[in-house]
Amino acid sequence: MIISHDVVIVGSGAAGLYAAYWSSTKADVAVISKLFPTRSHTGAAQGGIGAALGNEEEDHPLWHWYDTVKGGDYLGDQDAQKILTYDAPQTIYELEKMGVPFSRTKEGKIAQRPFGGHTRNFGERPVRRACYAAARTGHAILHTLYENCVKQNVNFYSEFQVVDLIMTADNAKCIGVIAYDLLSGEIHTVHAKVVVVATGGAGRNYAITSNCQANTGDALGIFLRHGLPLEDLEFVQFHPTGLAGLGILVTEGARGEGGYLTNSNGERFMERYAPTVKDLAPRDMISQCMYKEVLEGRGINKTGRICNEDYVLLHLEHIPKAELLKKLEEIVDFATTYLGIKPWEEPVPVMPTCHYYMGGIPTDNDGRVRRSHRDGDIVEGLYAAGECACVSVHGANRLGTNSLLDLVVFGRRVGLHVAKNVDAVKLGKLPDGADQPIVTQFNGIKASTGKERGGLLRRELSEIMMTHVAIRRTVEGMTKARDMVRALRRRYQEGIGVDDKGQVFNTDLMEAVECGFMIDYSLALIEGALLRRESRGAHLYMDGESFDAPSLPRDDANWLKHTFAYLKPDGSVDLQFRQVYLINEHPEDGWTPELIEKMKPKVRKY
Ligand code: FUM
Repeated sequence: MIISHDVVIVGSGAAGLYAAYWSSTKADVAVISKLFPTRSHTGAAQGGIGAALGNEEEDHPLWHWYDTVKGGDYLGDQDAQKILTYDAPQTIYELEKMGVPFSRTKEGKIAQRPFGGHTRNFGERPVRRACYAAARTGHAILHTLYENCVKQNVNFYSEFQVVDLIMTADNAKCIGVIAYDLLSGEIHTVHAKVVVVATGGAGRNYAITSNCQANTGDALGIFLRHGLPLEDLEFVQFHPTGLAGLGILVTEGARGEGGYLTNSNGERFMERYAPTVKDLAPRDMISQCMYKEVLEGRGINKTGRICNEDYVLLHLEHIPKAELLKKLEEIVDFATTYLGIKPWEEPVPVMPTCHYYMGGIPTDNDGRVRRSHRDGDIVEGLYAAGECACVSVHGANRLGTNSLLDLVVFGRRVGLHVAKNVDAVKLGKLPDGADQPIVTQFNGIKASTGKERGGLLRRELSEIMMTHVAIRRTVEGMTKARDMVRALRRRYQEGIGVDDKGQVFNTDLMEAVECGFMIDYSLALIEGALLRRESRGAHLYMDGESFDAPSLPRDDANWLKHTFAYLKPDGSVDLQFRQVYLINEHPEDGWTPELIEKMKPKVRKY
């Protein structure tokens, strides 16, 4: 079947829905999503959304901008980071007007709590910048945006999985997408003037992860197969406080409300590493410090190994139970349900969990997809926003609360840009048999007698990534990982099959398809990580064979640049580069000397 709309949004998290909301003020819009919209992973975002609200004595977008630049270890594009932080307050107030039920102060203002790496006055002390709705901030935003889209008559195709883009042969223009209807097993050709990709995270390729089952990075795999690049994919964030052994997220809001970490000596070890902000240091630093504590034998079980048995402790017992239940109810639930721990009585075992991709589909500041690393080379009619995109505002490490913010600021920005320009976009001509490659691929998988299965290959992949390409990385480990993932790719190509040959809700088939995407983008990730011989943000490159070796320093002379990974048909990866936008290199934009001095790359201390 051929479905036609002016604008097609792929993904129904906050970025997709905000883009849909604004696009629908001018165009006929459809949202296509592999989940029912309110099940999107935005709903799992707990602790808050960052914005310098209210009194400028207390907080200011300039300080938010500075923290974001420094938090990202200077790899973010500073013009985009300015948009993120300066657009934040108006976007929060717009969400408030749409109906987001933010928690309130006694005076009735939007309540805010401290979060890692967010400071007042260029690092002086932590500041309350995270606006929240208890510990279900993402859930509140997601539901409100969904309701507003329904009010705007946005069309929804739920449980439709997008499995391909329809592009012109030169990748200059996007004409639509191919979607698989999970309920009927039908393959649909979706024809559109504009496609917005907002498919969210990709962290299921790590064994310990806070990401939901759906976060399989389908769009990343699809883009690579079309010869389109992915930017800075080597930067993967590990959130410090996953429930030990499980990876389920314990919000940073818990530390924002006064929680702290200790090792087996009962020591608050973050005081040693980040004396000013302590347990509210950025995530990359805290996760790396937790690994160090465990490797040096100060994990609770003193194994000296990164393994499921070792961890550190998150203390919340000093916070009154009533306050915990009011502000962090979900965390209490998770600790009780999954570990049998009552956090008001005893500490919670935690270890880092794969949480967020800083890199992704490269876009300009309006979300238009870059066709290559060359300036101004944009794909007509194709946008990306949210976690799958790389604008780039997070650089080498994202600050907590800047993810929800990225979704809404850039989702909104894309929607506004589409609304303004959609009339001028010409509908491209659909090629004959646009769906044929997918029909052939799916029939091939179903007919295959091969013994490989998506679920099992995916588990192997996630163990490889977790062991060799997680927080501490060595050249030996990553080389081994690359060889192993290439071998998985060969096994996939030669032997992928399914047990379910049916049409209805064939999740077996989708698992096989997703696994192919995951293998491909993992190869791009590993190649970028191997080549980037420095440590920056979440990428900690050890200068030796073992995890105990010292780490390589940050190397601005050679590596203050973005990687653009292109996948070749044989599974090898070509890496190209693009300059980071630093304000000191753009005097034409009129930045003041004081500002330039503040934002110049420096040693990152907290
Ligand atoms: O810790 C958290 O609540 C997560 C927030 C985020 O990833 O921004």
